Amino acid sequence: GDDVVLGTRPPVVTVMGHVDHGKTKLLDAIRSTDVVAGEAGGITQHIGAYQVTATVDGEVRPITFIDTPGHETFTAMRARGAQVTDIVVLVVAADDGVKPQTIEALNHAQAAGVPIVVAVNKIDKEGADPQKVRGQLTEYGLVAEEYGGDTMFVDVSARNRTNIEGVLEAIVLTADASLDLQAAFGVEAQGVAIEGRLDRGRGPVATVLVQRGTLRVGDSIVAGEAFGRVRAMLDEHGQQVTEAGPARPVQVLGFTSVPDAGDNFLVVPEDRVARQIAERRQARERNAELALSRGRPTLETIL
Ligand code: GTP
Ligand code: NA
Ligand code: MG
Repeated sequence: GDDVVLGTRPPVVTVMGHVDHGKTKLLDAIRSTDVVAGEAGGITQHIGAYQVTATVDGEVRPITFIDTPGHETFTAMRARGAQVTDIVVLVVAADDGVKPQTIEALNHAQAAGVPIVVAVNKIDKEGADPQKVRGQLTEYGLVAEEYGGDTMFVDVSARNRTNIEGVLEAIVLTADASLDLQAAFGVEAQGVAIEGRLDRGRGPVATVLVQRGTLRVGDSIVAGEAFGRVRAMLDEHGQQVTEAGPARPVQVLGFTSVPDAGDNFLVVPEDRVARQIAERRQARERNAELALSRGRPTLETIL
């Protein structure tokens, strides 16, 4: 039987912001601070989510980052009812200031009730004005702590890797101040598919984020209309793991088809049940498409 254990899970973070303000560069810089990656030989796998081990105030704290290409995934996941992100790191280039996608990103985060850490990036550039960014964001309800508000602003240069620890520290402090990170370990896993693709040699490969419970090799799993049995799991360093607990992203091998980003997954007692749930969803989807093509809504398309 499974032993249910309540424990503290890592916070899950998404980096958002205007085009070219340095989201990818910041994620790269954060990844490079990971001590565990260094030990594993520094092999960087491309995986849609990964965990970094940060040392904050002498304490070792894991943080999970969702590495999505843009707001689309965040929006798509929200539309599917998947709540994955605990904290948004809003990247604003100090030489460019607040732009339309900055506002769009903060609107998404505020609508989802997700706390924001502002990374004021490119402070190495001529014309960088981090105080101006603080002033601009005040209009949108993001008031810096030093001005009496409750949003942490961190000035960084992702290119020069200046003050990346400051971002990690702000994430941990924000998590501790505003999040309940208690989660159930051990029980049958539930979570969200972050991305999926068909690998020539390995078949369907899905990056999933476990949100509750523990996912294990051998588990029968269903994600949206996809199902299978977990044949193997790989972490962000390409290392095989046998278990994945809450807030741990892993690549899962063993699906019979590719799940969609934002599909919720769950572990069920046997393969037969996983297949049944997936097939019922596939049939419902086919019926809905058929009804749409005939211009006649069915109960399923309405519900
Ligand atoms: P999109 O994904 O296209 O929206 O862009 P992004 O937000 O991921 O920005 P990206 O990390 O690709 O950086 C955009 C450009 O800004 C690149 O040329 C980076 O080298 C540069 N850049 C990023 N961070 C810094 C920084 O701290 N200082 C300077 N000088 N340039 C930076
Ligand atoms: Na870019
Ligand atoms: Mg990018």
